[in-house]
Amino acid sequence: TSLQLVFSTTILLLLYFQNSVLVFTYGSYGFVSERSPCACRICVADRGNSNWFSERYDPNVPILLNSTNSVLSTNVSRWWKLQIVPNAGNYTEVVDQLFPLFPDKEHYSDAGPDRCRTCAVVGNSGNLLGSNYGPLIDFHDFCFSLRINKGPTEGYEKDVGSKTTHRIVYPESAMDLDNSTHLVLLPVKILDIQWLISAFTTKNITQTYTKVPSTIKANKDKVMILHPEFIRYVYDNWTEGHGLYPSTGFLTLIFALHICDEVNIFGFGATSDGIWHHYFEKILTSYEIGIHAGRFENETINRLQQENKILIHKGWT
Ligand SMILES: *[C@@H]1O[C@H](CO)[C@@H](O)[C@H](O)[C@H]1NC(C)=O
Ligand SMILES: *[C@@H]1O[C@H](CO)[C@@H](O)[C@H](O)[C@H]1NC(C)=O
Ligand SMILES: *[C@@H]1O[C@H](CO)[C@@H](O)[C@H](O)[C@H]1NC(C)=O
Ligand SMILES: *[C@@H]1O[C@H](CO)[C@@H](O)[C@H](O)[C@H]1NC(C)=O
Ligand SMILES: *[C@@H]1O[C@H](CO)[C@@H](O)[C@H](O)[C@H]1NC(C)=O
Ligand SMILES: *[C@@H]1O[C@H](CO)[C@@H](O)[C@H](O)[C@H]1NC(C)=O
Ligand SMILES: *[C@@H]1O[C@H](CO)[C@@H](O)[C@H](O)[C@H]1NC(C)=O
Repeated sequence: TSLQLVFSTTILLLLYFQNSVLVFTYGSYGFVSERSPCACRICVADRGNSNWFSERYDPNVPILLNSTNSVLSTNVSRWWKLQIVPNAGNYTEVVDQLFPLFPDKEHYSDAGPDRCRTCAVVGNSGNLLGSNYGPLIDFHDFCFSLRINKGPTEGYEKDVGSKTTHRIVYPESAMDLDNSTHLVLLPVKILDIQWLISAFTTKNITQTYTKVPSTIKANKDKVMILHPEFIRYVYDNWTEGHGLYPSTGFLTLIFALHICDEVNIFGFGATSDGIWHHYFEKILTSYEIGIHAGRFENETINRLQQENKILIHKGWT
């Protein structure tokens, strides 16, 4: 009947305008319309819905290094040089070699009201086993994998998925990647950048503070380098100075919050019978464990969920 038609049209319109309606109710200027920052139901970058988040989240921080943003502020540069491993080279000279070799462009500046980019951050917890999350994980636009080197993805696709679009690596954690995966370098020292260059050219760096692979299989056209200022920002704003610097897993999560509109976490935390696999710690080498603030990072992740910025899928209810 026509009444039904009117009714369902109203519902469709309500659904359609849901984002704008949300904004109207948050705005304090009456009917001033401000469009939602993305096309998902809830947007990470929506600063209106969490003060705690807005105080920490800086949408303008440089995320990836390129030839025009590579100069470091003295604070960042000083912090970087304080790291345990001595610097091997001159930063400016090393960075000058980067961009003839790897893509030099602004990645991920495409955020806007029409984009809904969904991302999955996938860890190693045993709670993935039997979860049947595989298809759901692979359905995301981006999948950031923290699954351990040669982790049990083969034969377990049903639970853990098979897609990896980005993997954050540093020389000591390097591994071969699929041609479709972005290698995202996490540099905590200049030697890490030198290693990246060497791995795709001379292959003559085989040692940092420990033995590292001289080269790895990865798509050169998909290489990205996290900006040192971004690492410093995660340390200042998100781990609030706990530990020496943030863990790989935590950095991956904050990276995702900056390039995605919606972030879902899988493979985090304990199994239903209480067996605790520390999702992020499991991929860390013993060198790393002592210098991160696991508990603080864990609390921050829990808070992000409370503030509706991420959704943690536990694998059980
Ligand atoms: C640099 O560090 C000093 C001291 O730690 C701080 O007072 C100053 O605000 C920092 N500057 C910037 C640009 O972050
Ligand atoms: C690094 O190299 C640049 C350019 O070659 C030079 O201007 C700068 O002084 C060097 N820095 C150090 C600390 O040697
Ligand atoms: C480098 O990144 C910055 C943002 O951090 C951007 O403004 C700039 O256009 C980028 N440069 C190139 C060459 O893509
Ligand atoms: C990997 O992808 C690049 C394009 O990004 C392509 O040129 C290259 O042939 C591919 N290599 C393999 C082994 O598939
Ligand atoms: C690697 O080779 C380059 C170019 O041949 C050279 O400049 C550099 O010093 C070498 N590095 C090491 C660690 O042997
Ligand atoms: C986060 O960073 C901004 C600048 O990037 C700074 O103004 C703010 O105080 C920081 N917040 C926290 C909680 O560190
Ligand atoms: C992390 O947070 C979860 C949820 O509150 C908690 O159950 C777990 O014990 C915490 N883990 C650590 C290592 O603190």
